[in-house]
Amino acid sequence: MYKTLRGMSDIFGECAKKMDYIVQTASRLALNFGYEYIETPKLESSELFRRGVGDSSDVVSKEMYEFSDKSNNLITLRPEGTAGVVRSFIQNKFDKSKSIKKYFYYGSMFRYERPQKGRLREFHQFGIECFGIKNPYEDASIIILANEILKELGISATLRLNTLGSGDDLKNYKISLLKFLNQKKEFLCDDCKNRIDLNPLRALDCKNKNCKAILKDAPLIYDFLSPEAKSEFQSIQEILKDNKIDFILDPFLVRGLDYYSDVVFEFVLDELTLLGGGRYDKLVSEFKGEDTPGIGFALGIERLAEIINLNEKSKNLIYICALNEYLVGEIFKIGIKLRENFKVFISYEEKNLSKHLKNASKVGANKFLCMGEDEKKADEFWYKNLDTKEERNIKISDLYNFLKRARDEI
Ligand code: HAM
Repeated sequence: MYKTLRGMSDIFGECAKKMDYIVQTASRLALNFGYEYIETPKLESSELFRRGVGDSSDVVSKEMYEFSDKSNNLITLRPEGTAGVVRSFIQNKFDKSKSIKKYFYYGSMFRYERPQKGRLREFHQFGIECFGIKNPYEDASIIILANEILKELGISATLRLNTLGSGDDLKNYKISLLKFLNQKKEFLCDDCKNRIDLNPLRALDCKNKNCKAILKDAPLIYDFLSPEAKSEFQSIQEILKDNKIDFILDPFLVRGLDYYSDVVFEFVLDELTLLGGGRYDKLVSEFKGEDTPGIGFALGIERLAEIINLNEKSKNLIYICALNEYLVGEIFKIGIKLRENFKVFISYEEKNLSKHLKNASKVGANKFLCMGEDEKKADEFWYKNLDTKEERNIKISDLYNFLKRARDEI
């Protein structure tokens, strides 16, 4: 029997409903914040990710689904969305016209990771990218959008905030951190020993207890910030405070991808990062575009789906049926009309009442409308709320208003 590959899953049922709800909620809020939808290919040249995400990141060095196509081009299933959106921004010459572009996207990403809770090999992200604005208000508003999405989904996560500075700040910090790590090298874990020369920042992320203890004395990025970077970071914090967004400063937050500078942030719950992002002002020029600032974030849709509860409104499903075959055409017409405003399951079969009721609960309906001969004569439906067990007859002319009220009252 064939099975899905390790770390990949079929998405259906409750999980599919939750993922769809997350995408719809996040898309609606992103549209309100002035973002437009973009879709980029899942396959891109490997070079795009090597250059963009960085050779020293785990994502590129260990986790890429990379292979040669039939023309021997080295291609990769996208491990993240930012690099593709930046490529598209440049390919369509928005960098040349100095355009301000704000995009949102969603779809599957692929990382060859060790599968575990919250860590899949094919997973879905919802992300946003904003080009052409560098301003603390824009940075704060992106964090506010992230916060709104999580709030709307009923998730309360901790916002961690840091800056990686601009210009040479990070370069100077890396030199100092590397010096410190080399002094302590013999006490570090093998992973850190192997990767500090490639990217010393990775040690700041290390989960090993010994490394964590050693790193308590490590130099901090704050001592390497230029006055401009310091004041910009300060402004972002003030705007967030003004807007009642709680955060904690985390000087060890460096993110796993190499393109970041300035502000970086993550929303974390129970040690799992639900959403992460930051500025990447050098990425457009790294891809040979005109120097254009960029900032964005992405959230893991499966990670959110694991923890949200669907609200009752999104579950609302009306089951409409007939007790006699000659009434099916009639309820079909009414069901189609109701579908303009409600989620409706139309039963095309003639069944008795108890069979229809059983069927309604099988398809997950919570409202039940049924027409038999008596109801037809009186121009009405027999209605049952399958959650509250309320029963009554409703005139067809009152149906829309009644159902709307019933939905809004939830
Ligand atoms: P990232 O932190 O690598 O950032 O991924 C964003 C989110 O995707 C994570 O916070 C997590 O929720 C989810 N995620 C990552 N890997 C997995 C996995 N293996 N299984 C399930 N969920 C996962 C980025 O990808 C950046 N492109 C974000 C960004 C956009 N920065 C600026 N713009």
